[in-house]
Parts: sequence; structure tokens; C-alpha cells
Amino acid sequence: MTDTPAVVLERVSKSYGDAGHAVTALSDVSLQVPASQFLSIMGPSGSGKSTLLNLIAGLDTPTHGRVIVGGQELTHLSDDARSDLRLRHIGFVFQSFNLFPTFTAQENVAWPLGFVGLRWRAAKVRAAEVLEQMGVDTAARSRLPAELSGGEQQRVAIARALVTEPRLVLADEPTGNLDSQTGRAILDVLLQLNTQRGLTVIMVTHNAFAATYGQRTLELRDGRIVRDVHADSEPSHRGPVPLHR
Ligand SMILES: Nc1ncnc2c1ncn2[C@@H]1O[C@H](COP(=O)(O)OP(=O)(O)OP(=O)(O)O)[C@@H](O)[C@H]1O
Ligand SMILES: [Mg+2]
Repeated sequence: MTDTPAVVLERVSKSYGDAGHAVTALSDVSLQVPASQFLSIMGPSGSGKSTLLNLIAGLDTPTHGRVIVGGQELTHLSDDARSDLRLRHIGFVFQSFNLFPTFTAQENVAWPLGFVGLRWRAAKVRAAEVLEQMGVDTAARSRLPAELSGGEQQRVAIARALVTEPRLVLADEPTGNLDSQTGRAILDVLLQLNTQRGLTVIMVTHNAFAATYGQRTLELRDGRIVRDVHADSEPSHRGPVPLHR
């Protein structure tokens, strides 16, 4: 754990398109996320939630303002340094999974480990362990994404985000396509990594119950933060839970 905030946004705005037809996705957003916080982000469709996560991940650049991750201002980093930060320190679960269609589930999860120096064989062994934790069975691991259910694809995407043991996980609706039991299992894994290993979690969700896993909930509306609420007590489901279930 460290005193350096995991993420700082200083007066960040993001517009898409040219001046004539600009869409403002984020408008003057300032935010500080301490290391090891579990932050939930809610808000209607189009309010800027995915835009916010993309800016923190360095997948997109702000029109105005500064984005600082782990003490490093993203626009000051070279493309290589930004990619490195993303590969080693940030796990991203995309709203649309973004799995490689020609890789099996296990290969999808093993893939980021190649960039952090693991040999393919060792990477596949490690990938199998994380998939096991996520409840993806042996048969499913050797299938292609198109041969998996939505929920299985979701779990593979989460395994891929966690396999490098990042310090920060950005999750865009990680339980959106899951039944409530599987959704809860995924939330429990994130919570356990948060409470036991100090993982910082920033999770977008439309689900009010899922949001209660956060110690803090932001609400976005029209690209602005309209609510920032810290839970005054620990919800009963926060606390150590078994990873293997
Ligand atoms: N690449 C883009 N080009 C143009 N406009 C965009 C782009 N990406 C997002 N937008 C617009 O920015 C606004 C915010 O989009 P964003 O994807 O951040 O919303 P969201 O809160 O994640 O919504 P949802 O809950 O539907 O996922 C929307 O009006 C959207 O149409
Ligand atoms: Mg979105």
C-alpha cells in the first residue's frame, strides 16, 4: 500500500468529433481514487462512464485536463511506457470483452503474460489456475470465445485482466451479462483481491447491488460527477470470502 493515489483526474474533459458537431462525453471531472479503494461508478447510458475508464487506462487522451495513474501523468509517458503501464499494472475488463476470436479461452488469458516475460508453457499453466478460480471448467478453457456462453466469456475476460496481478483493475460492467449467482462470485473475487491484496478496483455497473461492493460510489450524469458517496459502514458482504468455491 502507498500514499500515492491510484488515480487522479484534474479537470478532465473529453469531447469527440470536430468543433461543429462535438459530443462532450466528460465535462470538467476532478477525482482522486486512493490506492486500495473499491470505487463503483453508476450513471445512465451515455453519461461518460466508459470514457472515464478509457482515459484512466490511457486508451484515449483527454481534450483538457490531466490524468495521473500511480503518480505518473499519462500524457507525459511515451507510447511504450504507457503500454507497459497498461500491461503490467492495469487490468481492464471491457464492456464488450474484447477476447481474441482465434485464441482459446486459456490462450486469451495466457496472452498478457508473454509481455511480462513468461514462456508460453508457464503462461498457459498460470492461465489455467486463474480460469479455475473464475469457475471456467477444463472443457471450456480449450474452446474459442464464440463457443462460450456470454457469462463464460465474461469470466475469461476477467481472468485475463487479473492474470498479471495488476495494482489497478478497471472493470466496465463486469457482471452485466451474468446471472446473479455468477455475478456475485465475480464480485466476491474482486472484493477479496481488494481487501486481501490491496487491489484498487474501479467498477462501472448499472446494478445497485453490485455497486454496494464499493466503499464509494460515484454517479455520473451528462459527463459530470453528480454524486460521490462513501459507504458509512462496511456492507455485510464485504469481507474475506473463499476464492475457491
Ligand atoms: N468514439 C466516440 N466518438 C463519438 N462519440 C463518442 C465516442 N465514444 C463515446 N461517445 C459519446 O460520448 C458519450 C459518453 O459515452 P460513454 O461510452 O462514455 O457512455 P457510458 O456511460 O459508458 O454509457 P453505457 O452505459 O451505454 O455504456 C455518449 O454520448 C457517446 O455517444
Ligand atoms: Mg459504457
